[in-house]
Amino acid sequence: MGLNKLSVFGVNQVYSILVVDDEEALRKQVVSLLISHGYQVDEACDGMEAAQKIAQHPYPLALCDVRMPRLTGLELLRHIREHEFSTTVALITAHANIKDAVEAMREGAFDYIEKPIKEATLLEIVAKAKKAHDMIEKLTLSAPMLTPGEGRECVGQSKEMKRVFQVVEKLTRVNTSVLVRGENGTGKELVARAIHFNSPRKDGPFVAVNCAAIPETLIESELFGHEKGAFTGADQRQIGKFQSAAKGTLFLDEIGDTSPATQVKLLRVLQEHAFTPVGSSREIKSDVRIIAATNRDLEKMIREGKFREDLYYRLNVMPIFLPSLKERRDDIAGLVNHFIEKFNQEHGQRITTLSPEALSALENFHWPGNIRELENAIEHGFVVESSSFLTFASLPDYIKRATRRAHSPHKTTLQVEALDWERGKESFEREFIVQALKKNSGRINLTAEIANIPKNTLLRKIKKYNINPREHGGWEGNLES
Ligand SMILES: Nc1ncnc2c1ncn2[C@@H]1O[C@H](COP(=O)(O)OP(=O)(O)OP(=O)(O)O)[C@@H](O)[C@H]1O
Ligand SMILES: [Mg+2]
Repeated sequence: MGLNKLSVFGVNQVYSILVVDDEEALRKQVVSLLISHGYQVDEACDGMEAAQKIAQHPYPLALCDVRMPRLTGLELLRHIREHEFSTTVALITAHANIKDAVEAMREGAFDYIEKPIKEATLLEIVAKAKKAHDMIEKLTLSAPMLTPGEGRECVGQSKEMKRVFQVVEKLTRVNTSVLVRGENGTGKELVARAIHFNSPRKDGPFVAVNCAAIPETLIESELFGHEKGAFTGADQRQIGKFQSAAKGTLFLDEIGDTSPATQVKLLRVLQEHAFTPVGSSREIKSDVRIIAATNRDLEKMIREGKFREDLYYRLNVMPIFLPSLKERRDDIAGLVNHFIEKFNQEHGQRITTLSPEALSALENFHWPGNIRELENAIEHGFVVESSSFLTFASLPDYIKRATRRAHSPHKTTLQVEALDWERGKESFEREFIVQALKKNSGRINLTAEIANIPKNTLLRKIKKYNINPREHGGWEGNLES
């Protein structure tokens, strides 16, 4: 607990590159260029040898020829993804094989370089791949976590969350009641699980009850159980949640939504460690730890006579307050990385890179739904994205719009303009092309191919809207290309 999550490769991994080409002269040329720029380099004479080397050493980057005997570049890429090796692949391709390279990009290659190789282009691609790698590596190394059991993790590196983790750690060693406060989606249930699964009760049950979701007439029997015939419809004896949580933890979610009658009974369990099922005269001893949660203003409810003050003090022995996500933006990068890993596993996908524009949009959004909303935004990215990158374009539209609005110097003019149909269409077209170019590093041929726009149309629109492909990362973004 409170540990730093360690990357599999250790902290000081060198950025080593595997150069794969059956043409020896070309391979040597690339190798010596990279060595002269300070990279650690290894080589393989075809795809098969490369696959063997990658299995033994986690090269962050492989530069691969497309056409090779035994295993082609595309086959090597598929092999890497199937085995979930972390190697990023960039392809070296003759112009004649450009279709294969585009296909490889769709399947998750990082980029491609056309032969004859321009040194500057090669170095730029390598630098870009290294930057993306360093970013992910940094995120992986810097996310302290709590393990709430069942393979879940509670991630946070902001000073606010570090403080929460310290309190949680203390709470795992005592048996007091806990009250977890925070807005919707801030992780209240996750923190409750973290306390339970790191406490001596971890082998006992964790039972969650949402007090707001149970009708007033049923809540007592739900919590404390009932005898057969206790009320109309009670045709069988039933045990309550307090009994099913014996030797474990009972999580009372939305405690602020309980009625005064239920509050009295809860107070009694907390004080006397005993309860009586509905319709019974027999008292049952309770060995349950209670963790309650709410997003309501309990202090105000007490003033208004809606929440019992004595229950509040009983629960509030050790309060935990979870700040909203916008109050701890330092956590966003770590959470994004955490959710990328999570969905890579759940969706069997392999997203390895998050673009800086996407991260910045996520870091600046106001997140009214907090971490749950961030989690959904990343999952949205997984659904729309078939490559191995999450980019600004893969974010949900409402986040993209909010980001653009925040960066637009002419907010009102733009909105008024958009009310005109023709102008609206034009502004969409322009935005679409800018995003498509950004996604494809400003390269015209690739953008036309991937966004499915005839190249001539694309060139015409670029001129019409006065877009500069170079601004979007293109080093060969030449209108004449
Ligand atoms: N620090 C965190 N690290 C990783 N995942 C988190 C973290 N906090 C929350 N989550 C995830 O965000 C989602 C929402 O968390 P949770 O259900 O615990 O919030 P909550 O405060 O109980 O929300 P609500 O008030 O709506 O019930 C869950 O999927 C949870 O796993
Ligand atoms: Mg909850």
